[in-house]
Order: sequence, then C-alpha cells, then structure tokens
Amino acid sequence: MSASTVASAGQVVAGVRGVRGSLRVPGDKSISHRAALFNALGNGRARITNFSSGADCGSSLSCLRSLGVRVERDGARVELEGRGLHGLVEPSDVLDCGNSGTTMRLLSGILAGAGIFAVLSGDASLRRRPMARVTEPLRRAGARIDGRDGGRLPPLVISPSERLHAVEHRPSVASAQVKSALLLSGLFADGPTSVVEPAATRDHTERLLRAMGATLHSDGTRVTVEPPDHLRCVDMEVPGDFSSAAFWLVLGVLHPNGQVRIENVGVNPTRTGLLTILERMGANVAVENRREVAGEPVADLVARSSQLRATAVGGELVPLAIDEISLVALLGLFAEGETAVTDAAELRAKESDRLAVVADGLAALGGDITATTDGWRIRRSRLQSGRADSQGDHRMAMLFALAGAVGDGAEIAGAESVAISYPTFWADLERLTTAA
Ligand code: S3P
Repeated sequence: MSASTVASAGQVVAGVRGVRGSLRVPGDKSISHRAALFNALGNGRARITNFSSGADCGSSLSCLRSLGVRVERDGARVELEGRGLHGLVEPSDVLDCGNSGTTMRLLSGILAGAGIFAVLSGDASLRRRPMARVTEPLRRAGARIDGRDGGRLPPLVISPSERLHAVEHRPSVASAQVKSALLLSGLFADGPTSVVEPAATRDHTERLLRAMGATLHSDGTRVTVEPPDHLRCVDMEVPGDFSSAAFWLVLGVLHPNGQVRIENVGVNPTRTGLLTILERMGANVAVENRREVAGEPVADLVARSSQLRATAVGGELVPLAIDEISLVALLGLFAEGETAVTDAAELRAKESDRLAVVADGLAALGGDITATTDGWRIRRSRLQSGRADSQGDHRMAMLFALAGAVGDGAEIAGAESVAISYPTFWADLERLTTAA
C-alpha cells in the first residue's frame, strides 16, 4: 500500500513503518523570488538554476512578463533579460500575485519606487493579508500607493510619483518582506534609505543586492541601501529550500524508525531557527558538508529518530523560524513535558491564521494543543486518525501529512495547496516512507 492516496474529500495519508532515504528539495522560494525580481532591474542577462517549482515563484515570473521582462523558463532553469532600474513598463492589466505575499510586497516596493502605474491583486487568501505594513511606510517616503480599506488590504494601486525621499523606516513587525519592499523602494530614492527592524529577519535581499553591485551597510538590525546608478544581472544557483527540507527533518526525528538525508539545502542562519529549536529539544540532526553557493551557505542535513524534551520558543528565535514554527507544534506532541510557543502572533497573518489552523488540525488528530493569543501550549499526545483542514495553506497541508504519517493516518482537506511551495511533496513523501 502507498503512504498517500487521493480520496474525494482530500488526500489520505497512512501511518508509516519507516522513514528512510535521501533526496533534494526544490529551490528556495524566497531566493527564487528575489533572483527573478531583482535581476529584472539589472543590466544584462541572468541564468538562474534550481529555480523554485512552487506556484508562488511562477506568480513573480508572470508579473515580470506583464512588466515587459523577457523570461524564458525550462523547468528549474530560468533566463531573464534585465531591463535596468528604469526599464519596467506599465502593465496593461492587473498584476496577479496569486497566493504570494512575497510577490505582492516586494513588487509594491519596486513599482512604488519606480513610479509605475499598476494594480496588484491575488487570490482570496492574499486579498485578506495585511498591507498597511508596506503602504504606510512607502507613502511616508512619497510614494503614491493605495488599496482597499485605506491601503490596508489588496488590491493595491500604485501611481507615478515624484522621486522618493531618503527615509529611515522603523517597522513594528519583524518581516523580511517589509524590509525588502522598503529597501527595494530605496533603490529609486534621492538618498540612502534605512530600515531598522525590531528583530533580525532573513537577509537574502541584502546578499543579492550586494552581489548585483549595490552598496548596503548593515549594523545589527539596521540596514541602509544607497541608490545605485545601476545593478548588474548575476547568474545564480538557488539552494534547496530549508523550509521544505524542514518537513523531512521533523519526520525523520519523530519516527521511531527514521533516518533521512536532505542534500543541498540553504542554511542561511537567518532561516535556520528550527535547527536551534531541534537541538534544544534533543533531536539528532547533523549539518554536513557546509559550503557556499552564490553567496548563500548550503549544507546536507541528516535527521535520525530522537527522544525529545519540551522547550520554550519565543522572542528573536521566532522570525528566524517563521515558516517552521508550526512544525514545533507537532514536535511538542512527541516531547516529554509542555512545549510553549510565544511571540508568534504574526502567524495569524500568513496564508491562513496558522495559530488557529494548526491547533484545530492537530487537535482533530488527537493532539493536546491549545492556541493562545500569540502561540500554543502543547503536551505529549497519542495521535489518532482523523481529518485535518489545511484551509488551503500549503504549509498546513504538509504539517498534517506528517502528523498522519507519524501517527495513525490522516485525511487532509485542501491538500493540493502544496503546489504553492512544493509541488512534488506527495511524491517525495512516498519516496521516503514505507507504508505500515
Ligand atoms: C518571506 C518572508 C516571510 C516568510 C515568507 C517569505 C520572504 O514573511 O513567512 O514565507 O521571502 O521574504 P514575513 O517577512 O512577512 O514574515
């Protein structure tokens, strides 16, 4: 019998007897977005390999095409011709960002800075996501950007404006999307633009802009970009996505008969908070063969069955594991003691309200978990089979698949959403597991 099958109501995942093997996950979603969006502003041509197969990065490419960028794609190979900082053209229709917050927020910064009339919209989930965090600071720099509810919700409308001013931004949320949008708008400003974050977030934007020749100064959680004369296109090989690899690490750790090796994974320290959390919980995870690829640290990761102890996760660790925190809820169900996650209210503003969806879905599978205002309290539980609703959120569908595989099976509603970041997830689950 196979580990997962499609039923009419959703994907059915059976409990598995073992988790074994080695694989590569698709290219990093965050880095793929940036490789496409930033190179579109460069001079020259960029060849990007191992580009994310997720639908989100496809949304960035299709928006770029609508902005006049020539993009050729052959699977994970993408070639695009940069149009220079001032070469994007006014799109003839609404830019459809799909499910992708990164596409919408980063493009807002670029288009508001470049002063290009554009309307940005997306699917029902994206149209519920908070945008004041980008529209308000961009307006303070002189941009003309509006949206529903006074600029709080998409669709967003950007209009041509005077050149943006040099501004110091102090966002109240620790968000790499906000930081990136503001730094990108700063490429077009009349002087240096600074962003001072409440806590460090992923720094892929800073790394790639530097590689393209921009001058950025980083000092703790302050980063300043100087408006460049031009940027040069750079070829790049995108590392495997840590956020996708994370599912297999957790599966390997949780299963009593688990050993997985995930090769060629990005291990940028602003992304790997989950490794710190796993270590604190006593998990057996090794980082091997560390190297650098295109200015990003890469390694092979090996996870083995482990006995876990509870931990407390909060504070500055949260932004470093923002897309993996939901996995801590599952880990907590297998740990000795009570695991507490705090300072994670931002999870309510993701593709779904992840604090609620995780608590409801894991509780439906027998988990002893309570959502709080900014996290969860989680106690060791014996999982049982049941039905969990991902609410169309890709990371929730993959989380519940893991719960089913290490527990007693699960039926997952909204399972097709894995295509947003990891279209081959179900096939890879099959590869790594032996059915019970
Ligand atoms: C991302 C940043 C994070 C993350 C998202 C991708 C990025 O969002 O959750 O999946 O590529 O910059 P926030 O910056 O809004 O926390």
